[in-house]
Amino acid sequence: MSKTVSFHLQKGGVGKTTISGTLACQSALNGFKTLLVDVDPQGNASSWFLKSAPKFELADVVQGKCYINDAIVPVEAVPNLYLLPTFGIGGVLKNYSETKLAEEPFVLQDLITELKKDFDRIILDLSPGLGRLERSAIIASDEVITPMTPEVFSLDGLEIFIDELKKLKKNLRSNVKHSRVVINSYDERIKQHRNIYNAASEGDFEVFVVPVDPVFRKSQENNMAPQFFKEHGRGLKPKTLDAIMKLDKAIWS
Ligand SMILES: Nc1ncnc2c1ncn2[C@@H]1O[C@H](COP(=O)(O)OP(=O)(O)OP(=O)(O)O)[C@@H](O)[C@H]1O
Ligand SMILES: [Mg+2]
Repeated sequence: MSKTVSFHLQKGGVGKTTISGTLACQSALNGFKTLLVDVDPQGNASSWFLKSAPKFELADVVQGKCYINDAIVPVEAVPNLYLLPTFGIGGVLKNYSETKLAEEPFVLQDLITELKKDFDRIILDLSPGLGRLERSAIIASDEVITPMTPEVFSLDGLEIFIDELKKLKKNLRSNVKHSRVVINSYDERIKQHRNIYNAASEGDFEVFVVPVDPVFRKSQENNMAPQFFKEHGRGLKPKTLDAIMKLDKAIWS
């Protein structure tokens, strides 16, 4: 059965795009028809995987300006991976989320229901914050996974997110699962990182780690899947690949 997973913490720069994009590539490389939906008005996932501006974007779909299939584009060089993009410049998704979305909080849920007929796996990359857009995307998902950085502000952010999610689930009658946390840019040699890991584990979460790896940034600069990026013959560190595989296996099993 098709599954939809979103990655979210209201805090900015914790790796939402990096982890959602990398896992979308991994899922596609494993042979599953995978859709990455760029639900961030910044359009970072789209500028990562597209070399030119798309003709249509997510905001056009939800406003009925085009058909879903007109907006979905295949990601070059990654078989089975498709993108429903957002074009950051112009702020169409941002304008929509600040105006019309208030009247239709289930618009993304309805869209995902349609998309599930065509895709094995759907991954949503969300923007920072916890406004209407992020809430609509979370309730459209079967599971929300929280990426965080190994610092105390992220831990505070996780606590706030847990509290807000409880209210959201009650108000919008959502059953979205939230039981996994990914500590991104983790270095087990650093005591503070281990402390954050232990603190996150106390909250009954299944905790995953992703190490610091410059290949993520470089693959984003070069519009490539991180799994394919190589410089001087070197790609992702074996430790990073292990972490991605572990996460991939857990999410979809
Ligand atoms: N494990 C990592 N190792 C090295 N660099 C990383 C790692 N994860 C993310 N980065 C880099 O950190 C920056 C922020 O990551 P990213 O854009 O994924 O965060 P985000 O949570 O999506 O941000 P935003 O809240 O703005 O959407 C990017 O430049 C990315 O390349
Ligand atoms: Mg992002």
